[in-house]
Amino acid sequence: MPSSQSTDPRTKRLRLRPAAEVIVEKDKPRTMKGPGGVARGIRLKMSLAATGNAPWPLYFFGPPGRGKTMAALCLLDRCYLPYLYHATKSLRDLIIVAQYNQQTREYPYGIHENDVWRSIRQANIVVLDELGVSEKVSDHHYETVVGVLDAREFKPLVIISNVTPDELKRVYDNRVWSRACCGVLVDFSGYPDRRIASTRRFGNG
Ligand SMILES: Nc1ncnc2c1ncn2[C@@H]1O[C@H](COP(=O)(O)OP(=O)(O)OP(=O)(O)O)[C@@H](O)[C@H]1O
Ligand SMILES: [Mg+2]
Repeated sequence: MPSSQSTDPRTKRLRLRPAAEVIVEKDKPRTMKGPGGVARGIRLKMSLAATGNAPWPLYFFGPPGRGKTMAALCLLDRCYLPYLYHATKSLRDLIIVAQYNQQTREYPYGIHENDVWRSIRQANIVVLDELGVSEKVSDHHYETVVGVLDAREFKPLVIISNVTPDELKRVYDNRVWSRACCGVLVDFSGYPDRRIASTRRFGNG
């Protein structure tokens, strides 16, 4: 199975660059192009990061329905395995269950917290979706977010949020903002709401 340990000479050369890893597999389907694909400006920013020419993380932000999640999934589609997609809230829930399993050993074959963090550290690329959706940030939620940001420092990470970088500072704090917004910011607010656009065909609105 192809992996980031590829012996491709391009991989070796790019791996020497700080904060960069080759993640895009050229032979995979070009799902980002063509009608209904990802807008050119966004594709450009994604490929700058993917080729090691811009720092991680990619921070996608904008109102609902602008295609943020779809753009990130298109990127994953072109990446080497293993890759991970997590919504912030469900990752937090998974970690709570995994902590319980690890501490109690009640389910010896259940997933343990160490396994979750190992998979996050070792993935070729991680997408953390729906950051900042909830205004109430519990300790568990905060630790999950900072944990992912720290585990993926200098590594491929896409963060998706409905809130602007400035609002992110308010929802969390400067520590989260500094980690999440230190790479490439990608603003989706100039694009139409694809959900609404698709229902207009049926005479709505
Ligand atoms: N470029 C596109 N062309 C056509 N449809 C698209 C495009 N991008 C996204 N869509 C469709 O629009 C819908 C919304 O996209 P998506 O879930 O990626 O939005 P989002 O920005 O993540 O929204 P939210 O902030 O609510 O999570 C999906 O059904 C998706 O398939
Ligand atoms: Mg989304």
